[in-house]
Amino acid sequence: MTDKLFKLTDPETGKHSDLPVRVPTIGPPVAGVGSMYRDLGAFTYDPGYAATASCQSAVTYIDGEKGVLMYRGYPIEQLAEHSNFIEVAYLLLYGELPKPDQLERFDTTIRTHTMLNEALLRFFNGFHYDAHPMAMVTGVVASMSAFYHDSTNVSDPEHRDIFAHRMIAKIPTIAAAAYKHSVGQPFVYPRNELDYCGNLLNMFFAVPASNYEVDPVAAEALDMLFILHADHEQNCSTSTVRLAGSSGTNPYSAIAAGNAALWGPAHGGANEAVINMLETIGSVDQIPKFVNRAKDKSDPFRLMGFGHRVYKSYDPRASIIRGMAHRVLNNLGRTNTPLFDLALELEQIALKDDYFVEKNLYPNVDFYSGIIYRALGIPKSMFTVMFAIARTVGWVTHWREMLSDPEFRIGRPRQLYIGAEQRDYAALSER
Ligand code: SDX
Repeated sequence: MTDKLFKLTDPETGKHSDLPVRVPTIGPPVAGVGSMYRDLGAFTYDPGYAATASCQSAVTYIDGEKGVLMYRGYPIEQLAEHSNFIEVAYLLLYGELPKPDQLERFDTTIRTHTMLNEALLRFFNGFHYDAHPMAMVTGVVASMSAFYHDSTNVSDPEHRDIFAHRMIAKIPTIAAAAYKHSVGQPFVYPRNELDYCGNLLNMFFAVPASNYEVDPVAAEALDMLFILHADHEQNCSTSTVRLAGSSGTNPYSAIAAGNAALWGPAHGGANEAVINMLETIGSVDQIPKFVNRAKDKSDPFRLMGFGHRVYKSYDPRASIIRGMAHRVLNNLGRTNTPLFDLALELEQIALKDDYFVEKNLYPNVDFYSGIIYRALGIPKSMFTVMFAIARTVGWVTHWREMLSDPEFRIGRPRQLYIGAEQRDYAALSER
């Protein structure tokens, strides 16, 4: 806290309001506007919350101008190079890198809580054969609240821990069940001897008719993608989890709300939309036509995977994924990579175009991730589910942080009312 104040005055009435300024560890300060309505009778107005800090948080820091992303103070580049997803999950949840015994215990807890209640597993048989996997995942995550009553007392720290471990452990199993239902194959049970990503690949691609060996290159690529997607400050889906969770609802319902928000093409659904876009563009000679469409205000077409609310420079995650794509594709023997080549060419052309330069539109995390998921044999309808698996760690972390925040209260924004003034009811015969 500091005693610095921003002073607001209404020139018409002379009323003023002193806004206390709070100084962060790093990044911009914030002005407390809570007293504004009392002093000036006015609300703040910030559609999309572009300039609004909704909470205090110690989890993730982003600098959109410099392209900086840190989890608990550790740069994403260092975590991507040296860490693994389970260790990053521990770091996000508990705030510190785990000691060897802590990591061992956490890893064992996650590995031994991956199975779903059999009745919950049968839910998948009720979905239509062509249900979108995100619809199935969102529905089944919400239904977890109907099965796990012993970890829903949100005020009990032990319950919050049980929920966190269960949610992180079971989301890959739910994702794999959705995938198997969508391809009409039998569900594959989790294996405790496999690590997080190896177990996921086995549940996706093993079939009763033959043996399946997890490809370590694929598991490593998946692990890196999960690290990069684990958290991202107060993004749309994380803010949704916080707002839903602020009512004290069952935590599985709050996470389901986050899944629902992530599915949108403007958010986590963009990775699927990027591949659809690249397939529509088809060839390098068509790129200028689509870049022009993206610049045409009368055309709803946007370059999916480009632009970001916070990053006005290159998304550091996109840089890492682009570099990784080359290595993964080569290691997987994918020499024929027309979509990747098209994506690289599209990036080059867009980043030289004045429109994209002026608006600071760079590739974001979703631009290249789908190229790798495809190379791993994952269908594009599952891309947002892959994002949801990783971001479940961030959602659970922010939900826990919110509940332990002394400033925590139910979220309830106000509005700028532009509707009708008071008027009297008119009988049907008089309308
Ligand atoms: C994620 O918030 C997070 O942290 C999200 C995320 C995470 O990890 O949680 O990083 C994950 O969601 C990444 C973003 C994935 N979405 C896409 O790739 C979809 C395409 N991008 C856009 O829809 C857009 O850039 C957003 C939604 C990402 C950001 O939208 P903003 O901040 O509201 O920006 P805007 O829509 O106001 O755009 C500013 C200008 C506009 O032009 P003007 O009205 O100023 O003339 O840039 C234009 C937009 O028309 N613009 C684009 C564009 N993105 C923005 N023009 C063409 N193509 C684009 N992709």
